[in-house]
Amino acid sequence: MRKKIAAANWKMNLTVQEGEKLLDEILKDKIVLNDNQQAIFAVPFPYLQIAQEKISGMKNYFVAAQDCSDKKSGAYTGEVSVDMIASLQVTHVIIGHSERRANFNESSQMLADKLNLILAKGLTPIFCCGESLDIRESGKQNDFVATQISESLFHLEPALMEKVVIAYEPIWAIGTGKTATTAEAQDMHVHLRNTLAGHFGDKIAADISILYGGSVKGNNAVELFSQPDVDGGLVGGASLNAQEFCTIIKSLP
Ligand code: PGA
Repeated sequence: MRKKIAAANWKMNLTVQEGEKLLDEILKDKIVLNDNQQAIFAVPFPYLQIAQEKISGMKNYFVAAQDCSDKKSGAYTGEVSVDMIASLQVTHVIIGHSERRANFNESSQMLADKLNLILAKGLTPIFCCGESLDIRESGKQNDFVATQISESLFHLEPALMEKVVIAYEPIWAIGTGKTATTAEAQDMHVHLRNTLAGHFGDKIAADISILYGGSVKGNNAVELFSQPDVDGGLVGGASLNAQEFCTIIKSLP
């Protein structure tokens, strides 16, 4: 059965002191997660170890890196490898966020390389996809997102694909306050699941968690997460507020 996930993406926000305070505030609520629910905190690289220590011992709470290098190791000044992330006991890595695709020219091949390194190390990738406003307005969003999926994921063995979490984040809804309607989110998630089923089979497609991202807030999470194919959210802005993010975690079905 697929997991229901509330994932915080802090992006490049908060000092370490502010981050610790935020995490402490969220964790003091001691929200109990059932076997099928997960809360994940994607914090900046320098805070991974502190965040990992804070959540250790809490059932179904995890820490994620927001990115990783597409190279294994070596002379890549400033880069952070999957091995480094794993050595902190961190379990998840976001890849392919639209901000990285746009600002750092990340290609589908580069994301496939990152994915291979993450999976080879036994970590869980959270693979982001999503279309721009232009593409949505031209009605080509389904083809666009299916291409993102096929170019970066279709080379995987089915047993490895099962470990991938997908986040659908329409770019026009990120940080804009403009959320996809529940129907738009559900329609795209069904399309993504069908795309995965076409290549990997129905069983694997049914078991993959597909998160929605883009202006998820405390007041829209229940409705979004109640859609049958929306398995939780990847949350930017609202994850920087303890009360908001606790409400979002509690909105998981
Ligand atoms: P947002 O960001 O919740 O601030 O729209 C989501 C994301 O980019 O992951």
